[in-house]
Parts: sequence; C-alpha cells; structure tokens
Amino acid sequence: MDYFNLFFLLCFSWKHFISNAHSSDSNQQPIPTEKLLVLTVATEETDGYLRFMQSANYFNYTIKVLGMGEEWRGGDVGRSIGGGQKVRLLKEAMEALTDQEDLVVLSVDSYDLIFAGGPEEILRKFQEANHKVLFAADGLIWPDKRLQEKYPSVRSGKRFLNSGGIIGYAPYVNKIVAQWNLHENDDDQLFYTKIYLDSFQRENLNIGLDHKSQIFQNLNGAIDEVLLKFGTKSARVRNTVYDTLPVVIHGNANTKMYLNYLGNYIPNAWNYERGCGVCDHNMVDLSQLKEYPTVMVGVFIEQPTPFLSQFFQRLVTLDYPKDKLNVFVHNNEVYHERHIQRFWEESKDVFNSFKVVGPEENLSQGQARNMGMGLCRKDPGCDFYLSMDTDVMLTNRQTLKLLIEQNRKIIGPLVTRHGKLWSNFWGALSLDGYYARSEDYIDIVQSKRVGVWNIPYMAHIYLIKGEVLRNQLKERNHFVLEKLDPDMALCRHARELTNHREKDSPNPETFHMLRVPKGMFMYITNRHEFGRLISTANFNTSHYNSDLWQIFENPVDWKEKYIHPNYTRIFTENYLEEPCPDVFWFPVFTERACDELVEEMEHYGSWSGGNHEDKRITGGYETVPTDDIHMKQIGYDKEWLHFIREFISPVTLKVFSGYYTKGYAVMNFVVKYTPGRQAYLRPHHDSSTFTINVALNSKGTDFQGGGCRFHRYNCSVDSPRKGWSFMHPGRLTHLHEGLPTTNGTRYIAVSFIDP
Ligand SMILES: *[C@@H]1O[C@H](CO)[C@@H](O)[C@H](O)[C@H]1NC(C)=O
Ligand SMILES: *[C@@H]1O[C@H](CO)[C@@H](O)[C@H](O)[C@H]1NC(C)=O
Ligand SMILES: *[C@@H]1O[C@H](CO)[C@@H](O)[C@H](O)[C@H]1NC(C)=O
Ligand SMILES: *[C@@H]1O[C@H](CO)[C@@H](O)[C@H](O)[C@H]1NC(C)=O
Ligand SMILES: *[C@@H]1O[C@H](CO)[C@@H](O)[C@H](O)[C@H]1NC(C)=O
Ligand SMILES: *[C@@H]1O[C@H](CO)[C@@H](O)[C@H](O)[C@H]1NC(C)=O
Repeated sequence: MDYFNLFFLLCFSWKHFISNAHSSDSNQQPIPTEKLLVLTVATEETDGYLRFMQSANYFNYTIKVLGMGEEWRGGDVGRSIGGGQKVRLLKEAMEALTDQEDLVVLSVDSYDLIFAGGPEEILRKFQEANHKVLFAADGLIWPDKRLQEKYPSVRSGKRFLNSGGIIGYAPYVNKIVAQWNLHENDDDQLFYTKIYLDSFQRENLNIGLDHKSQIFQNLNGAIDEVLLKFGTKSARVRNTVYDTLPVVIHGNANTKMYLNYLGNYIPNAWNYERGCGVCDHNMVDLSQLKEYPTVMVGVFIEQPTPFLSQFFQRLVTLDYPKDKLNVFVHNNEVYHERHIQRFWEESKDVFNSFKVVGPEENLSQGQARNMGMGLCRKDPGCDFYLSMDTDVMLTNRQTLKLLIEQNRKIIGPLVTRHGKLWSNFWGALSLDGYYARSEDYIDIVQSKRVGVWNIPYMAHIYLIKGEVLRNQLKERNHFVLEKLDPDMALCRHARELTNHREKDSPNPETFHMLRVPKGMFMYITNRHEFGRLISTANFNTSHYNSDLWQIFENPVDWKEKYIHPNYTRIFTENYLEEPCPDVFWFPVFTERACDELVEEMEHYGSWSGGNHEDKRITGGYETVPTDDIHMKQIGYDKEWLHFIREFISPVTLKVFSGYYTKGYAVMNFVVKYTPGRQAYLRPHHDSSTFTINVALNSKGTDFQGGGCRFHRYNCSVDSPRKGWSFMHPGRLTHLHEGLPTTNGTRYIAVSFIDP
C-alpha cells in the first residue's frame, strides 16, 4: 500500500465517521417540498411522456422539461432518453441553478418512467441516504463490463450505477455535469460511472448509489423483484428483495411492456376501492361536436365465418350516422360472395360509400389490411379507421361512439369468446414477442377489473385516429413484417419506432426484439360490454345453410339466430297454449330457422315420395309413410338431437311435470305436403312417448289447408303458426291425422321422442 492510498483510507474512515454521526442526528429538519425540482429531458410529447407528466402532476411535483422540440441527437437510443445530449442539457440547466445551495434536483428520464410516490417521501429518503448526490443502482453493469473490479463491493443491494435517476443538491450535481465535454451521442452512463469510480470524486462529492431501491427502481433484470401493491388511494410497487417501496419506477431496456402494465395501476390509474382513476381523462363528448367524425370501416372476411349476415346486420344497426361511415370489405372467400351480394342489394345505399374487394383480387391478408387502412390514411377527411374482422359480434350498438369518446390513438373494445378466456388482446408478451399471460389478464377478461388498459397486442377490432395514420403510422405497409401475422405486425409497428438497438441492453442475444418502442400506447377498454368473438373453427361450408350446424361451436349466436325471441317467455310468463287436451303449442324457431331448414331440404332434394317401402328405417317398411327427408340424410342428426335436449326438454319438463325425457329420437324428419304429391296423412299413432311437430312455413301465404286433428278429443288445430311447435303424447291417447293441404306446399319438422 502506498502513501496515497493510506492517506485516502484514513480520509475515508474519518468521513465515514462524520456522516454516520450526521445521520444519527434525529433533529434533522425535513427538506421542504418546494426545494425539490424535477428535471427531465424530452424532445417529443410521446405517450410515455404524457403518462410521466400525469403521474408527476398527481403528486404535485415541480417539473422542468429540457430539450422539448429539440432534434434528438443523443444517439441511436431513439426515443429513450440517454446519451450525451441529455447530460449537455442538464449541464446547461444546472449552470442557471448554482446559486441555489439548498435546492435538490431530481434528474430522471420521462418516456419510460412513472412516479409511484410524492416529493415528501423522496426527500425524506434522500436525506436518510446521507449523500449529496445519489444515483440509481443496477444489478447489471453497462456499458463497460471491465469496470466491474473498480466498483466498491456491497454486502447487499445492487452494485452498479444507472444514470436513469439522479438526485442531489444542486451545487453538487452541477460539479458533476460541469465536467461534461463530450459529444451529443457519447454515453452518459459511462460518463457518470467514471466519476463515481474515481474514489476521490466519490468521496469529495459524497456520491452514493441507491443500492436497495429506496427511491429508484430500474425494472431491467428486476421484474421478479417487484410486486404491485394496492393501497386505498393509489397503487405502487414493492421491491420484495429489499422490502422497499421505490418512488421512481423506470422501465429501462426491454421492460417497457412491463412498465406499461404497472402504469395501468400506478399511481392512481386503477385500484380495488375506486376502480379506474384515469378513464375519464381527455374524453370527447360527441354530443358537443357540430358533426360526427367520419369513419372508414374496414371489414375483413379472411376465412369462412359463420353468422356473416348477423355481422352485417349489426353493422347496419350501429348507433352512428350512416352517412358518416364509409365501408370497405375485403372478402377472401368465394363461399361468402352470395351473402355479401344479398347484403349489398339491401344496404348499399345505407352508408356513405360501400366498396368490396373480392377473392378474385387474390390479395393476401396483409395487403388487404394495408389497403383498407390506406383508404383512411390518404383521405384527409377520414377522422377514424375502424378495423373489424367478421368474427366480432358487436352486441353493443354504441360501440363506435364509446370508442371515439374515449379519445385514444389506438383503442379496441374487449370482446371475448363466450364462456372462454379467449379474447382479442394479450396482457403481456413473451421475450420472443408472442403471447404471455399477464397477472391481470383473467380479471380483465371477466371484467373483475374494469378500465382502459395499456396492452402490447390486440386484434380483431380496433379504432385508430386518422391523424395517427397520417403521422406516426404513415408508412404504408404496417401489416407485413417478417413472418408475423398481420395484426401482430401492426402492433409491433405501433409499439416500436426505430429498428435500432437500445444501448443499455445487457443481453446481445435478445438484440432483435430490443427495438426501441415507438411510445405509442394501445388500449383495450372493458368499461362497457361490447360483444363477443365467435369461433371460425370447425365451420363446414359444404352445406347450403352452414350456420345451422353451428349449434355446438357457437351456441350463443346459434340461439340468437334460430331460436324464437319469445321462446324464453315460455318459462318466465307461461307463454304457451294448449289448443287441445295435452297438446301444447309454443314458439321455438325464428322464421329464419324455418326458411333455412326448408331450403336445406329442398337443396338436398331427395324426398322419399311417401312409399311404404323405406330403406332408411329398420325393417324397411313404413305403415304410415310421409313424403319426407330425414335429418340424418343431410347430416343433421347430432345437431338436431342437441337442439331437442337444449330447447325441447325444458318445455317437456314444464308441461309434463315429473317426466324427464332422455331427449332421444331416431325419427327426425321434415315432411312436405303438397296437392300434387302427398297432401295429407291418415289417422295414426306415433311410435314415441311424445312428438314435436314444428310448422316451417305460413298458412295463407305459402299454402292453403293443412293442420292437425286429434280424434279422441274431436279437436283440430287448423291455423299452424310458422316457428311454433306442437308437443303431444305419441303412442296411446293422441290418435291424429294431417289435414289436407289444398294448395301450395306445407313443411313441418317432426321428431318422435323417447320411442
Ligand atoms: C396536489 O395539490 C392539490 C392542490 O393544491 C391538492 O388538492 C392535492 O391533494 C395535492 N396532491 C397530493 C398527492 O398531494
Ligand atoms: C394468388 O396468390 C398466390 C400467392 O401470392 C399465388 O400463389 C397464386 O398463384 C395466386 N392465384 C391467382 C389465381 O392469381
Ligand atoms: C362437411 O360436411 C360434409 C357433408 O355433411 C361432410 O361430407 C364432410 O365430411 C364435412 N367435412 C368436415 C371437415 O367435417
Ligand atoms: C313476441 O310476443 C309479443 C307479445 O305477445 C309479440 O308482440 C311479438 O310479435 C312476438 N314476437 C315474435 C317474433 O313473434
Ligand atoms: C266435433 O266437433 C265439431 C265442431 O267442432 C262438431 O260439429 C261435431 O259434431 C263434433 N263431433 C263429435 C263426434 O263430437
Ligand atoms: C294456389 O296458390 C297459388 C300461388 O300460391 C295462387 O296463385 C292460387 O290462386 C292458389 N289457388 C287457390 C285455389 O287458392
């Protein structure tokens, strides 16, 4: 040991003694909060910057923003504050503050940073730390690993300096930054590190690191250390390793998405007591506007999709002036051309404009989405672009208005698959950019937490401001990127500004994902119920009306399309009739269901002809034959039995109380009565415990005559109602006949249940 080091050691011990004596002084006066000034560098008002300001204003920090509007020259860190320009700006700002001896300055980044606590707390912790200048600490060393040996060792806590947060007395901070004479794109962290590692300066200026995250929490490499902690007024994070409540939360390096997640709560964005604290910020009141905004609606049919006519119906019934809607449809499926044709004929004049690009154009999904978005981008009069896939069933007619009023750059309404945890957003991303479940995902999907959520990925439906398309998203090819699916490509483009590597990335292997986030936030809202996502899987389009087969895959939409709107009133209001003893009569099918079933049968076309010989049944002989087609012949027997169990069994239980049907039936068929072929059916019993008989078309318009007569009671029902079913005992009491159809064609669907 040479003399110099010995001298230094003595000095150090002495100083150490002094400062210990100082910190034990319990009479130390708290620093008044007016003495704290926050300095931050921001060259643009990114979404991250606005979030930073919102958290700062919530705690009443005094903020001075440096460099706003200045061109960023601080190197390839893009939007992330860093680089020499930042030190230079701080140096200039400090020169003006040197005379303020007791001023404490806090220099922090703003684009990726949130305050979780207020000035009083930060000042108290700063005083307790007993340094003149305190830097944030990091468990990872950057940018020069060779400097590791030079760092003082620490018994516990983070060892290395991070320049993302500095707090200190103005004259001391000034003495540090005054030393800056490097270039705008030189590394700021290296500059501060060298000063800190110079033991003379470290002692002389009394520089310390916030080893245990009392004040500064850098998230990089520390995500596992922190937990969200909910209080009654605000939320914050707890560092579980050091048991501290850090005040400044910094999403450095590739932790931006995680910071976005924390920002959904901290400081006052959401908590259990009050719910969403920021959802009403910056809302637009549409009723105050002179005119409704013009919206380009992009509709994408990229695969065969059930219930397409219902989708279009909901588009027409959206509560929004239709002359403000321009519709662009990309249809990739020949199968759907007739559905679009029908919709176009009925509704083409409803909208301001209506344009269809069909399968003959052979566009890829990415190209089609680029085209739709481009239509809004290039039209200065286009205020919003609403992109919708046809698997989104919007049940809330206010959806478009509600999204516009929320006033975000990009926002989607939460839609979920019925009864499933499947939805149109991801709460988190894995390191390779794919799905990861966030801690709050299920609560958001199930609306146990309600708000407007900053998330990394959404699809199926979203609204983007036209001005955003003409600025931040002005490139024309957002939907095509590497091998990503088009929505993933869009979200990544929105999140990421440049393709440059972030400088403080400690792990070169993850380089390709460490693009610098664009700072554009994407939101999903679950403040209202908007609708659901239907399943496009297992959609067999080989039938004429293929939606009929969707009873298993999309039961909610199936019921909505095919079950009579008054069906549920059978149970709530006893909405059924008994025209003859033990013959019950109730609504079960919509007109649409009846029409599609008849169409399906006529499309199949092989009516039995009403002969006694019948190969379709065991024994091959039918005593009372009808002119019919069995459900099994069109491949509809499984679906039909399911329909019986779901919708007929409950009625059985109601009218024949105590009888629990197995809902089993072999004979399920549609009968056709027409004068030229078979017009009536002679009196007979059914081989069933009970029978259902649903009228599939209307007397008077479709046919004359018809009806059903029950002999034992000398009772006829001769005005069948389309969509209504009879239910009567089959085997013993209810000898019945089908009365002659005198003109036109009458169709009924019949099942012999529990034979
Ligand atoms: C900020 O200041 C306002 C107005 O003086 C005050 O009502 C509010 O309570 C303050 N907020 C905090 C977190 O101290
Ligand atoms: C449609 O596009 C695909 C892929 O771009 C191509 O392979 C195919 O030949 C095209 N078909 C027609 C009919 O142009
Ligand atoms: C679709 O339905 C047709 C007709 O019922 C059937 O032949 C075919 O196997 C079905 N396809 C699939 C994939 O289930
Ligand atoms: C449902 O019942 C109401 C009241 O009886 C009736 O006005 C309405 O037309 C019925 N709906 C249909 C689709 O028949
Ligand atoms: C059956 O009812 C009709 C009137 O509805 C009546 O004219 C006829 O006499 C009745 N027949 C018997 C056998 O009761
Ligand atoms: C039978 O139906 C056709 C068409 O539905 C109609 O033109 C004709 O007048 C009807 N005949 C009688 C006798 O009602």
